[in-house]
Amino acid sequence: MRTETGQVVSLADYRPTDFVLERVDLTFELDPTETKVETRLIFHRREGADPTAPLVLDGDELVLTSLLFDQIEIDPGRYTATPNLLTIRDLPAAEPFEITITTLINPEANTQLMGLYRSNGIYCTQCEAEGFRRITYFPDRPDVLSVYTVNIIADKAANPLLLSNGNFLGGAGYGEGKHFAAWFDPHPKPSYLFALVAGDLGLVEDTFTTLSGREVALKIYVEHGKEPRASYAMDALKRSMKWDEDVFGREYDLDIFMIVAVSDFNMGAMENKGLNVFNDKYVLADPETATDADYANIEAIIAHEYFHNWTGNRITCRDWFQLCLKEGLTVYRDHQFSADQRSRAVKRIAEVRHLRAEQFVEDSGPLAHPVRPNTYKEINNFYTTTVYEKGSEVTGMIATILGPDLFKAGMDLYFERHDGDAATVEDFVACFAEVSKRDLSQFSLWYNQAGTPNVTVSCAYDVGAGLFTVDLEQVVPPTPGQPNKQPMHIPLRFGLLSAAGAPLAAAGVEGGEVSGDVLHLTERRQTFRFSGIAERPVLSLNRGFSAPVVLHFKQDSADLALIASHDSDLFSRWQALSDLALPVLCESARQTGGKVAAKGRGTKAKSAAVAADPAAAVALTKSLLSIVGDDSLEPAFRAQALALPSEADIARELGSNIDPDAIHRARQALVAEIARAGLDLFGQLVEGMASDAPYSPDAASAGRRALKNAALGYLVQAAQDPAKAAEAYDKADNMTDLSHALGVLVTYFPETEAAQAALGNFQTRFAGNALVLDKWFSVQASIPGDGALARIKALMSNPGFNPANPNRVRALIGSFAFSNPTGFHRADGAAYDFMAEQILLIDKRNPQLAARLLTSMRTWRMLEPTRAEKAKAALSTIEKSSGLSNDVRDIVERMLKG
Ligand code: PHE
Ligand code: ZN
Repeated sequence: MRTETGQVVSLADYRPTDFVLERVDLTFELDPTETKVETRLIFHRREGADPTAPLVLDGDELVLTSLLFDQIEIDPGRYTATPNLLTIRDLPAAEPFEITITTLINPEANTQLMGLYRSNGIYCTQCEAEGFRRITYFPDRPDVLSVYTVNIIADKAANPLLLSNGNFLGGAGYGEGKHFAAWFDPHPKPSYLFALVAGDLGLVEDTFTTLSGREVALKIYVEHGKEPRASYAMDALKRSMKWDEDVFGREYDLDIFMIVAVSDFNMGAMENKGLNVFNDKYVLADPETATDADYANIEAIIAHEYFHNWTGNRITCRDWFQLCLKEGLTVYRDHQFSADQRSRAVKRIAEVRHLRAEQFVEDSGPLAHPVRPNTYKEINNFYTTTVYEKGSEVTGMIATILGPDLFKAGMDLYFERHDGDAATVEDFVACFAEVSKRDLSQFSLWYNQAGTPNVTVSCAYDVGAGLFTVDLEQVVPPTPGQPNKQPMHIPLRFGLLSAAGAPLAAAGVEGGEVSGDVLHLTERRQTFRFSGIAERPVLSLNRGFSAPVVLHFKQDSADLALIASHDSDLFSRWQALSDLALPVLCESARQTGGKVAAKGRGTKAKSAAVAADPAAAVALTKSLLSIVGDDSLEPAFRAQALALPSEADIARELGSNIDPDAIHRARQALVAEIARAGLDLFGQLVEGMASDAPYSPDAASAGRRALKNAALGYLVQAAQDPAKAAEAYDKADNMTDLSHALGVLVTYFPETEAAQAALGNFQTRFAGNALVLDKWFSVQASIPGDGALARIKALMSNPGFNPANPNRVRALIGSFAFSNPTGFHRADGAAYDFMAEQILLIDKRNPQLAARLLTSMRTWRMLEPTRAEKAKAALSTIEKSSGLSNDVRDIVERMLKG
């Protein structure tokens, strides 16, 4: 299981450690450049282990300054130390022994942001997955659970705050200008959940009384002066704690729960036991600086990290192959939480949009891997949308197959049986199999087979016999290392609609399991026969997106329009609109590719969407506008309807020979068409959805803003005049409206005075607020067209651009690569070369960040041949470079393979 650089780690090679770690005592003497870490470890040899096996501890760039065995300096002949490995030989066969290790580390020089590092003068740690080995030599793997005591010694003036996991034991002065604090965490944990924070921070405090009446102190630490911006996070935390008690029966288990917000962080946040560390982007919010989306993200991520206390911390993973055991499950839990706090249907639509845009793309390209992979070269590269989002979908399918009561019983059994364990996916699934007495072995393929299943559907109705037949065929496409796939267990929620849109019930069904409204597709080909159907039904399939599959179902426009206006499932109504729009967009993109490209964006391109299939475009516009104008529907849903499939959605639907310019033109043409047809309605919505009430981030208010802003976008485009957006910018009294108006101005009228004035105003107004300036960088990075690259380069020399801050790098370079298809995929390939250069530079500083940015090129094979060649050349340049990190090497090699 040892992860030597560049080596492949295999699930099949798992075996437990030879030594059991009884306790850990850590003493940190903090110093910006020379921090001394003394680690006392008490081990005993595992029963049955080889009595001569050496103790092998992981390290990463470590400097060993002393090594003791049972308090005595160890004979140099008994150990070997390299920066990456410490091997100690001749250890006792049975009785416990103590190893004391002293290492010297340099937090200031730690630009990878793994291990102990400094962010804006704050000491903080990030240990998942393998960061603890950058602090001290250690059996750094998730199945080594131990109890930790932590002593922190630091300069008192600079670091009034000394924090670690668990409960505070005490503190005192410690010589000249220093002080110390001691922490004890009674819950055995793996090293990746260790955390330490020291520095000078402001505090927001509250309390929570648990189910059983215990009072928990809640503390959120932020930079001084930012305390008022932490109140929403605190509110979200308390709601999360209550929800986990109500819905999953899970109570918090320490006297104190702390969150620290830092400005330099590779990911969103980290669930360290009792001491979560957050990217401050997911803590800080107020109406002037945060959008509705920011609020929703904060709520979701606060909940996610808190929920890890049970799914991740109390029950952790046996090895990193089991990552989805904590991540997929915890994402499922945070999705349920958000759905309960907000609108379930709208939340589901947003989840599916995200799943398709990210996970489906990953699953169909060179980086495809199972939810539970069997090999990896660099575990950092497996914190993927497949492990997280598809992992959550798989959990959701268990709930669908079992139903709510048995799902709950299975979760209860899992918590009871595995509390304190380092568990596996098999352990998890076994709990559900046991309570439901169902065989879940075919279902488990969802964990082991990569690729998004394609399900082809065809229906027939025999009026004489009153028989409705549904033919289903599933094909799971080949993925790297998995050429042949077995049929999966796919739970499809469904309904049958009459011509009037009312539900139709069948007298009986044959051909496979149908329980309630769930049809279980388990064979490669399967035919379901519904009898006693009095009229031709319209099939609404995969309601609520019950299975993460691609449906190939040629429903005609009339049937789709019926579903869009009448289905009882809001998700399906949205999906039907999307299904009406996609063929129109794809056909138009195919037709405008190439030829029109030469002519630029004229009115010719605008009529293209309609020309491709006038009837479908008319049906779409009609359904769309009637939904958007339907006051009985919640505004957030109507806003989702107005959002249309994205350029990435169209690219995915086309699948190959992608010309991003043609896609952009096709989509703009349809937007213009809808804008013209809905001019009056959009005008009314901009007025009607406006509110004089003070800003509130609740879901209903956010939904009204979303609908108003979507309508405004169409109005501005119909008018081809920035004035309305400029007016909205001037009027905006919250960040949601302000940044939306800025986005419309800058995206559609980039070179106008109005856009430039707004950009200047925004920059001055929010100078000094890094999170808001990220929006300023991001909105400019996303402006479509060939001019984007020059703009990015200019912005990189802006004094505000800080290559050491991951949020800023993602705001500028990440937005360009991931959210600007026409700019990034410009036909001459110049942006690919630029990206290759940037990846190599960033890799020197922060390999995780570089590897993640590089995945923006994972769709390169889908591009039309000229662009694909250029992308490949840029990737080859990266691959041939010397001194690549393990992270970037792993990604680039997989992307080029085959
Ligand atoms: N475990 C974190 C989460 O999902 C993500 C994370 C992984 C953060 C690795 C940092 C490093 O909640
Ligand atoms: Zn997580």
